[in-house]
Amino acid sequence: MVPQQVIQPLRRAAIFLVLTINPGPASEDRVRSICPELSKIIRGVGFREPAAQLSCVLGVGSDAWNRLFGSPRPAELHPFAEIVTGPRRAVSTPGDLIFHIRGEREDLCFELETQIMMRLGEAVSTVDEVAAFRYFDNRDLLGFVDGTENPVEDEATRAVFIGDEDPMFAGATYVIVQKYLHDLAAWNALSTETQEKTIGRTKLSDVELDDSVKPTSAHNALTTIVENGVEKKIYRANGVFGHAGKGEFGTYFIGYARSPRVIEQMLQNMFIGRPPGNYDRLLDVSRATTGTLFFVPSITFLEAVSAQAAGPAVRTETSVESSPSGEAAKDGSLGIGSMKGLALDE
Ligand code: HEM
Repeated sequence: MVPQQVIQPLRRAAIFLVLTINPGPASEDRVRSICPELSKIIRGVGFREPAAQLSCVLGVGSDAWNRLFGSPRPAELHPFAEIVTGPRRAVSTPGDLIFHIRGEREDLCFELETQIMMRLGEAVSTVDEVAAFRYFDNRDLLGFVDGTENPVEDEATRAVFIGDEDPMFAGATYVIVQKYLHDLAAWNALSTETQEKTIGRTKLSDVELDDSVKPTSAHNALTTIVENGVEKKIYRANGVFGHAGKGEFGTYFIGYARSPRVIEQMLQNMFIGRPPGNYDRLLDVSRATTGTLFFVPSITFLEAVSAQAAGPAVRTETSVESSPSGEAAKDGSLGIGSMKGLALDE
């Protein structure tokens, strides 16, 4: 079971491309047809400059899953649930597909995005497209280093990839995205000390505040989830974007986790508060303008997808070998072979 390239060091450039699939079976066929091709397309562009470390992750929304693949469905795939509380809103916005492109060079990211869009053509409509860049030493536009406490290596693998809890989809993951816009004038009017207490870390040196001074409403306090004595981690790859000429300054939040429940709990804590009312003061100066949840199948799954939807959309590994005509699996199963071989369990 080969997972998609989710866990990557933070790269210099990223593109977040969210699409809806246009009505009709022809659009669905066209989207399915890119699934087994995607790795090849990435390799084709990335090979021209290996040092650019080009990668792309494809995610599929809840409704789109039914249209493209039917059943079985990933156990926890559902539309992003809006959270509204007074002036704070975690909105839920449309999105059938996300392409999360990363690399050390924005021209390669752009070339890959272009090739993907040329293949998808009339089958899709663009909902949102954000090109992000590295800002100094991985800082967000609020001036804080973003990504420090991300899990690494085995801890990242355990946090991100589904294991025995949904064996049919082992090696897959969930992703939630939100596009935030900041009121930088309001943020910059705050003292550095207030900003540090909002984030829970020092600004220049990026050191975590001691519990004796860190408020329980600090961003890194509200996003720390402990269940049965175990901290539940997610993997973030936030992007910095902006158009200074238009006064637009943003953070594109992207969080991957083997269960979307962990990210949803963080959002509840941020927007509603833990306890209720003790909310994340980042939200006084940051507004979420999008919010969407996607499922990120494994590469093994994507490579077994066939364009035509007749019966199950996905062939078995055995049927791939034994059926060069590319017929759908006769047993009606996803049949993506053994899910073992990836050390995913806690
Ligand atoms: C306005 C948008 C956001 C900004 C600017 C932001 C910024 C930051 C910064 C500066 C840190 C501290 C450094 C680090 O460990 O990365 C941090 C930590 C963190 N953020 Fe965010 N963040 C945003 C939204 C979110 C959202 C929506 C979530 C989850 C739903 C989230 C989850 C986390 C987590 C889990 C940590 C690490 C906490 C820890 O273990 O110390 N962030 N964020």
